[in-house]
Amino acid sequence: MKIEFVAEAGKSPVIAVLVHEGQPLAGPAAALDARTSGALSRAMKASRFNGAAVSSLAVMAPAGVDADQVLLTGAGDAKTYDDLALESAVGHAYHAVKLSGADTLTVDLTGETPQRAARAGFAARLAAYRFDKYRTKEKPEKKPSITRVRVVTDDVKAAQAAFEPLSAVADAVIFARDLVSEPANVLYPEEFARRCKALKSLGLEVEILGEKEMEKLGMRTLLAVGQGSVRESQLAVMRWNGAADKSAQPIAFVGKGVCFDTGGISIKPAEGMEEMKWDMGGAAAVAGLMHALAGRKAKVNAVGVLGLVENMPDGAAQRPGDIVISMSGQSVEVINTDAEGRLVLADALWYTQERFKPKCMIDLATLTGAMIISLGLDYAGVFSNDDAVAEAILAASPKTGENVWRMPLPAQYDRMIDSAAADVKNASGRAAGSITAALFLQRFVNGTPWAHIDIAPTAWVKDSKRPTVPDGGVGFGVRLLDQMVADRYES
Ligand code: BES
Ligand code: MN
Ligand code: ZN
Repeated sequence: MKIEFVAEAGKSPVIAVLVHEGQPLAGPAAALDARTSGALSRAMKASRFNGAAVSSLAVMAPAGVDADQVLLTGAGDAKTYDDLALESAVGHAYHAVKLSGADTLTVDLTGETPQRAARAGFAARLAAYRFDKYRTKEKPEKKPSITRVRVVTDDVKAAQAAFEPLSAVADAVIFARDLVSEPANVLYPEEFARRCKALKSLGLEVEILGEKEMEKLGMRTLLAVGQGSVRESQLAVMRWNGAADKSAQPIAFVGKGVCFDTGGISIKPAEGMEEMKWDMGGAAAVAGLMHALAGRKAKVNAVGVLGLVENMPDGAAQRPGDIVISMSGQSVEVINTDAEGRLVLADALWYTQERFKPKCMIDLATLTGAMIISLGLDYAGVFSNDDAVAEAILAASPKTGENVWRMPLPAQYDRMIDSAAADVKNASGRAAGSITAALFLQRFVNGTPWAHIDIAPTAWVKDSKRPTVPDGGVGFGVRLLDQMVADRYES
């Protein structure tokens, strides 16, 4: 999708203008209405369109305008018209005309700030995303025809400048979405690691540890998850040193990268198992975040660590009841091989705090089905041992549309994961399933200020209601944590 900023609409097949709910046409919409001798306001009166969010009215071939279509686009209530409302309106405009046959959508934002014009370009890029590389027989008329979005703005230069960092974030979200949507026969740990290595071109340092290196480090709980797979487990370590002081303590991000989760010997039911290709959504978000930070040259030192494995049933797979020694030295009784994410993260978190001594550490993981039971599909859960870190995440959330809800980490539940045979067990029954998973992770952070984001609800979307988040891999966490870094951790 090409994004252009221009000073005048000129000739365009589709011109979109925004209309606020329950208000008369204003700004560029009023200007076009005048040029069409009132055709737009008459069309509006003749329909039920009233400017409500995520709705639009197409006025075809109006006389007086050099366009095949003027799209009156709902911007919702003027009182709640923030950046996200604008994103949503532009995303909706794109979807309304994407199959029209037109190649260009012009969005007239005359009278709005150049920052808002940049937002419009950002929204168009996110809305136009689709994972279609394996669709070879799609009819041309079912394929989107819009290849360019032009945003009309009063200050082209300023809009372009404001668009640069946003476009870097869009690149990163798209990179993460692609990773999440790739099937597990294509995206296995080594392939994931290769795609991380390719990010060296952005200025990231990328190191890949294989099974031998992890064996030496004693990362037995991570390796145990992958031992039933023919694919080699990997640990990807990505570094971005953008702070003025390159040796300043970094902030660290850790991602669960289970490229496929069959459940292992504690195998999952067949129905819906195909969804477990996105059990690497946490790792994708961390890789995407590092992409974003490097892409917009964030003034921060950051580390991203991804635990990449495949959880398969096999003669060599780990068994329920196995006792494994983690890198931390703690022994873990594996009650359920399907509670594998926490085993991967136990070693990845321990490794990260020991090697990098980060200011704080945030992990993202599609960790528990119970998170979906708790919060439904619109919220990820945040668990933290540190109010400042939790608050930084919560504060960034409403600016990004990536919803989070803080969950408790009650000390009195910690004994639920005590094991009779080892130091800790990896599963403890249905009660508070997401909390006991987080309490398990907490035993491996060694007191580091830490937050865990359980993105099981939000990593993937079906029947999306949000125009800028098409069905499939969401890339959830990239925008949220990029915003958090920008607001709280950049010098
Ligand atoms: N990857 C799953 C969690 C999951 C399930 C995410 C469904 C999204 C949708 C995780 O590895 C898992 O299997 N967790 C188990 C834990 C249980 C065995 C303690 C779960 O949630 O059932
Ligand atoms: Mn599992
Ligand atoms: Zn899993």
